[in-house]
Amino acid sequence: MCGIVGYIGKREAYPILIKGLERLEYRGYDSAGVALLNEGVFSVHKKKGKVVELKKLVAHKKLLGKVGIAHTRWATHGIPSDKNAHPQLSNSGDIIIVHNGIIENYLTIKKVLTKKGYKFYSDTDTEVLANLIEDIKKNTKVNLGEAVRLALLEIDGAYGILVLAKDEPDTIVVAKIGSPAVIGVGGSKTNPEFFIASDATPIIEYTDRVIYLEDREMGIIKNGELTIKTIQNKIVNPYVHKLEMKIEELEKGGFEHFMLKEIFEQPEALHSTIRGRLIESDGNIKFGGLEKFQKELKNLRSLTVVAMGTARFTGLIGEYALEELADIPTKVEYGSEFTYRKKAIAKNSGLLAISQSGETADTLNSIKEAKRKGMLTLGIVNVIGSSIAREVDAGIYNHVGPETAVASTKASTSQVLLQIMLAIYLGRMRGLTKKEGQTILKEIQKLPELAAKTLKNSDQIKNLAKKYKKIEHFFFLGRKYNAGTAMEGALKMKECSYIHAEGMNATELKHGPLSLIDENFPSLVIAPMDSMYEKSKSSIQEIKARGGLVIALTTEGNKELEKIANDVIYIPKTLEMLTPILAFIPMQLFAYYIAVERGNDVDKPRNLAKSVTVE
Ligand code: F6R
Repeated sequence: MCGIVGYIGKREAYPILIKGLERLEYRGYDSAGVALLNEGVFSVHKKKGKVVELKKLVAHKKLLGKVGIAHTRWATHGIPSDKNAHPQLSNSGDIIIVHNGIIENYLTIKKVLTKKGYKFYSDTDTEVLANLIEDIKKNTKVNLGEAVRLALLEIDGAYGILVLAKDEPDTIVVAKIGSPAVIGVGGSKTNPEFFIASDATPIIEYTDRVIYLEDREMGIIKNGELTIKTIQNKIVNPYVHKLEMKIEELEKGGFEHFMLKEIFEQPEALHSTIRGRLIESDGNIKFGGLEKFQKELKNLRSLTVVAMGTARFTGLIGEYALEELADIPTKVEYGSEFTYRKKAIAKNSGLLAISQSGETADTLNSIKEAKRKGMLTLGIVNVIGSSIAREVDAGIYNHVGPETAVASTKASTSQVLLQIMLAIYLGRMRGLTKKEGQTILKEIQKLPELAAKTLKNSDQIKNLAKKYKKIEHFFFLGRKYNAGTAMEGALKMKECSYIHAEGMNATELKHGPLSLIDENFPSLVIAPMDSMYEKSKSSIQEIKARGGLVIALTTEGNKELEKIANDVIYIPKTLEMLTPILAFIPMQLFAYYIAVERGNDVDKPRNLAKSVTVE
């Protein structure tokens, strides 16, 4: 996720800004940049790659200026490159801006500005905003703060921005919706200074007094004075917090590990996954990246999903949705096997590659192979501009921000959701009615809130982890949509806790594995109140009858399993196909808390790497 840093005061800004960017590196990014304002001139330096590359770029330059802004960019609009890096200048060079987040209606605004003669030199939505501010400032003769406010009234989306104007060197403007922004108040009454950033990590060494901007609020620092107002122009009395955290804690947002932070980011991640993509009026989905391929997608007769690890398990869930909603015969393959399987490819068949990193060699190779065979290739990828994102014909981004912990969490729930959304999209080209589409969309919209509700049970899961931490074997079982969920639960347990775990379709149990069950071999059975509930309940009874322990995961309000299972975890009610998204969360927490109990290096489990770029 992008990071912003700004400074205005009596000190030289560059050392503060560059250090701030280094402090934000943990958020993940693909380019970095800085701009300083000195004697009416902006000096702007930006570079694809890490902050250290930016430092090298400016190493022999004199960087002066007591006001400046800086940025680490996690690409959303346009590939990672020098030109797409921030800060972005307006056409006349009078306005400069750094921006986190996404401006959803930037294309509409870009069209209007293009008609007025504005030119665009990057692929970013940020440059559009810079020019919109310039246009308003020029035409209405207002100051920077007011021009930014008026521009923001025209914008849909989420953002955290910092803006400077060449003719107002005493001013810096910050505003936000969705993305965080913190203002650090430093110095003294006679010598005030302000530090602004995406979180408090770049600020903490200068001051412990901070103001957290709320959504739709902006801060205007002018002549050493800070005014906070809403975008609707209502003055706000800010609450100044005293920071008590240590820097290391702040980097993980106050969480002990990145994995826990990323688990708790899921409501926001699901929100970002659906943002701007649901067309309620038509019961349909909008995927910008697929628009050019409407004809091919309409003619698609079969689909092969390729992925590895967690991503493949999400494919096993998506497979059901693609068949149920889009009526497309779908199969899921290991990326690694697709390349080596000698198989005739039917006409109009497509390949869907799923990958968080976009760099998994096994999955990447299967795309190349599919292209050789003339298949249409699609991708669901989190990392913008990654190899898989570039290799596929048409792609869909998760937009969940970087995953730092090795174990995939927030990307995986987003992968499931995007496959269901893709199934709706393809379904609406076939037999899925508008009404059916609308019903699912309505439930999808509730997911971020339901995920937040699911996370509220984290203390219960923590206690379960204490109870089961010494166990050496585990079964994870589920049916239909939740068979893939069970496999993912087992994988999380293996990789984080180093406990032997097997995930499978619960029906398999009686065909062999049941012989392993005894009082030291517990099972986690995913049994929401859906079309498979009675069958899952039978599996629980089979295990109990053989002296096995059972943790049942079921829907809120279903008290029946409390009488049968040893422990019960609840998830909120939702549509059957969406249950895996909520069921993933307690399983991630369970694996995480057991790993912590066992003293494992949760964020970097032994022997594993975050992206597997070898075959
Ligand atoms: C498990 C995990 C891995 C990845 C797999 C594919 O928590 O993260 O199993 O899912 O290596 O990685 P991507 O999605 O980057 O292709």
